[in-house]
Amino acid sequence: METEHAHAAIEALLEERRTFSPSEDFRAGAAISDEEVYRRAEKDFERFWAELAGEFIGWFKEPTKTMDWKPPHATWFADGELNVAWNCLDKQVDAGRGGKVAYHWVGEPEGETRDLTYEELLREVSRLANGLRSLGVRKGDRVGIYMGMVPELPVAMLACARVGAAHVVVFGGFSAESLAERMRDTGAKVLITQDEGWRKGSKVPLKRNADDAADEAPDLERFVVLRRTGDDVPWTEGRDVWWDELVDEQSEECEAERMNAEDVLFLLHTSGTTAKPKGAQHTSAGYLLHVSVTHKWIFDIHEDTVWWCAADVGWITGHSYIVYGPLNNGTTSVLYEGDPAYPDWDRHWQIVERYGVSAYYTAPTLIRSFVKMGPEYPARHDLSSLRLLGTVGEPINPEAWVWYWKYIGQERCPIVDTWWQTETGGILITPLPGVTTLKPGSATVPFPGIKPEILDEQGNPVPQGEGGFLTISRPWPGMFRTLWEDDERYVQTYFSKYGPETYFTGDGAKQDSDGYFWLMGRIDDVINVAGHRLSTTEIESTLVEHAAVAEAAATGAADPDRGQRIVCFVLLKGGHEPSDELAEELRQFVAQKIGKIARPAAVLFGDDLPKTRSGKIMRRLLKDIAEGNELGDTTTLRDATVVDDLKQKADAALGRR
Ligand code: WT7
Repeated sequence: METEHAHAAIEALLEERRTFSPSEDFRAGAAISDEEVYRRAEKDFERFWAELAGEFIGWFKEPTKTMDWKPPHATWFADGELNVAWNCLDKQVDAGRGGKVAYHWVGEPEGETRDLTYEELLREVSRLANGLRSLGVRKGDRVGIYMGMVPELPVAMLACARVGAAHVVVFGGFSAESLAERMRDTGAKVLITQDEGWRKGSKVPLKRNADDAADEAPDLERFVVLRRTGDDVPWTEGRDVWWDELVDEQSEECEAERMNAEDVLFLLHTSGTTAKPKGAQHTSAGYLLHVSVTHKWIFDIHEDTVWWCAADVGWITGHSYIVYGPLNNGTTSVLYEGDPAYPDWDRHWQIVERYGVSAYYTAPTLIRSFVKMGPEYPARHDLSSLRLLGTVGEPINPEAWVWYWKYIGQERCPIVDTWWQTETGGILITPLPGVTTLKPGSATVPFPGIKPEILDEQGNPVPQGEGGFLTISRPWPGMFRTLWEDDERYVQTYFSKYGPETYFTGDGAKQDSDGYFWLMGRIDDVINVAGHRLSTTEIESTLVEHAAVAEAAATGAADPDRGQRIVCFVLLKGGHEPSDELAEELRQFVAQKIGKIARPAAVLFGDDLPKTRSGKIMRRLLKDIAEGNELGDTTTLRDATVVDDLKQKADAALGRR
């Protein structure tokens, strides 16, 4: 065993065998229903993208070039000119979609809704764009945006795009400190925010946080403040201006700036759990093309689709698949302001029923919460409008996949498990729902034209079935171009491990005998037991297969003899109680399913897991807890009390107190 696996970057021990082929019905109506696109893209991937650019982008000046690759820097369509907001708005109105709903907005307080048509959106964007110009915002500037999920958030982003300023959206759940850091990093002079936001029935003090951030970000000169709750907020005369007062005086006409294809559209910081956040720099034409084509083909978007990406606009998922992809495709979307559990756990299903949502996209972390709450919640509503489901953000455990298939998709809707990153701009590994046979837990195959490879430590391709490092060995249009004002870190982080031609994703993966990709979690999280490198994802998915387990997280704690030992944190489903017997049973269960090497040294029960605000488990903290260390930085946690509780339980269970 030991020598046989010595060169494997990560050991792949789990195998999932269930498959789901597209139904005849779905295939018949699908935007893409045969494999020809894969062959076309492989034959000449640059030409493949160039042809799609003609279809998906309205140019002010047609490009004569496609890709220019000077590793590790790529440009796409570099002499083309366009305006991304013009494509998302004016082009849609010109095509006859002026009266079509762009966003069905649903406020968190029940009964508050608002529909915005493409025409209305164009008007709002133009007035704010004029307002921004009146504050001195010019092409090439950076503008911060710190808001909740209100329709004015996409309006603000598009207004920036219209005048050629790069937006820097900071998720409304972040603290004043995180906001200040991102404003300082990008030198934004204007910040668009709102009085307060709604979350779980409480008000979030966005303006107050923005005021605190301003103390630490001296370049911020002007605030534009939207009234949302209408409560009084602190006010700085001369610096702050109300959104409605700013746009009141503005014309509804606003010429869209002519932008080069490679001009910066936005900066967005990666959710990074440790060091200084990295400002991924995304540009205009390649990004717009990538997100539009992937949106249309992967989610099978038709003229009458009602699309709901239930992420926050503050993440890349929202940028790409709530704002730019859907609008450039002229799609009707749902935009929901609040929490999925407010006022109760059926809120999403109520919205699906009300608007007849046909495609729904969310994260495994939320699906696992739905599993925990039980199928009675979706059962309260008519979900027959749904025809496709999607997931993103983490590997989805096969058991959660099958639950999603059964109780949400009612065994009718294909599930697209989409792998990508803030840095990649859009989806890279994914099924095409009218073509690909699905396997629960696998993101399946590369999107046409994308070339992932799984390499070992030395850069050799790993044999089929073995785990290794996921890389992408060919550029794609939506890739980030660099890190904002830190090209050295761009090269160092992503293009040094395997040289400048090969993008290093930081994820572990394996490919099965059908060539399907199975994501195995971040490389930094791999657990090393006596020289065996084990995937956290495989251990967690196995635990979740057990009837008592709702959610699980595996981490490695230092062990003097074996390098690391596996400590698992487990949340139980309703009706199951923690006990020593159950812990023992779960340890045996993993040993039996994966192998003795993966038997957890300890299984600890908790009520919750430490997660970032985007829903990713912070294994670094679990490791601190498992090792009995002082806890590291907890400021990016969604709920900091969770770790104290777990720490007490762990110290007691591991005999440290
Ligand atoms: C990391 C990127 C991309 C939008 C949301 C997250 C993990 C993402 C999947 C998937 C397995 C996934 C990876 C990746 N991830 N999608 N379908 N299967 N893992 O963006 O915050 O930049 O995180 O999320 O580890 O590297 P992000």
